[in-house]
Amino acid sequence: MNVTQNVALQSYNSFGIVAKAYSLLRIRSEADAIEAQKDLENWREGHCVLGGGSNIVLTGDVKPLVLKVEIAGKRLVSETEKAWIVEAGAGEDWHEFVAWTLSQGWPGLENMALIPGSVGASPVQNIGAYGVELQDRFDSLDALDLVTGKPFTLNAAQCAFGYRDSVFKHTSSGPNGIGLGGRALILRVRFHLPKAWKPVVGYLDLERKMAETGIANPSAQQIFDWVCDIRRHKLPDPKVLGNAGSFFKNPTVTPEQCADIIARDPKVVHYPMPDGSIKLAAGWLIDACGWKGKSVGNAAVYEKQALVLVNRGGATGGEVVTLAKAIQTSVYERFGIRLEPEPVVI
Ligand code: EPU
Repeated sequence: MNVTQNVALQSYNSFGIVAKAYSLLRIRSEADAIEAQKDLENWREGHCVLGGGSNIVLTGDVKPLVLKVEIAGKRLVSETEKAWIVEAGAGEDWHEFVAWTLSQGWPGLENMALIPGSVGASPVQNIGAYGVELQDRFDSLDALDLVTGKPFTLNAAQCAFGYRDSVFKHTSSGPNGIGLGGRALILRVRFHLPKAWKPVVGYLDLERKMAETGIANPSAQQIFDWVCDIRRHKLPDPKVLGNAGSFFKNPTVTPEQCADIIARDPKVVHYPMPDGSIKLAAGWLIDACGWKGKSVGNAAVYEKQALVLVNRGGATGGEVVTLAKAIQTSVYERFGIRLEPEPVVI
């Protein structure tokens, strides 16, 4: 095993937090992963898996062995009358993969353009944007069981996808007892891209683009360009201003709770869900509490979108966590809602 000592992690986490890994191992193939697994029990501090680093907050130097997944490769696995099945290695950059599928003439991922992170992390979070979630285009994935050393394949049902949730975010000791968190190292992901493609443009920002441009039947490439444009206007580029995208999930409440909030705050942004519950815009709740632009040390709430916390330069993970907790407290005190963070604190 080619373990490197004292590796700077600043460029490996999208928040740009300064920290180091005491020991880091690059995983470039399934064989590398199998080899690494055999040795894991010798690491007293344990291990952790690092993908694109776009969903983590580092609060200090990392003592567990960092397995940095860099498995490359993109290919068409099969083509039927109805769909293309396309596969990418877990270490591929998500956005570049989306752009590549479009350049090959396989639409379907365009609404998820410009989401930071790697292909391997995409099912963990069940990433989603502008009306499409990963689970809508997912076929299957291959992973290595870091306990037994055996590779295995999961279909969509086995991944137990939910809103920014999957089997990979829970541990087996969790409430439902069926988690793979910390246990599965995702090697490759396959996507099911139907040939009967239809644009998904029901999201308000995309409807606005259609109205502005007068384009009623956009191509997949057009939607890709619009989504990139919308995101560049609303969300900070992690290469310029460190961040981890939305810091909190949009909370779900009962219709009664929502009615109660509307009675006090008629403008609250809310969306009825198919199961009868109501999703609230966390960004609106945080904004309503006056957080835009506020900071703790060098960690701040982004001026244009209150759901995003940013590193103004030199922020520590501790500052990010303190700011996040203060936001949670103020939203709870005003609305009685507990916001749940999206990123993992390490
Ligand atoms: N809003 C405010 N003030 C703010 C921020 C938002 O009033 O400071 C209002 C907006 O005006 C809008 C509503 O809140 O009416 C929702 O905002 P937006 O459309 O920007 O989307 P979001 O709910 O904040 C979610 C995802 C994003 C995804 C977009 C588009 C979550 C946690 N976030 O954001 O995903 O790109 O929808 O689909 O579900 C991510 O997960 O990292 C992420 C960026």
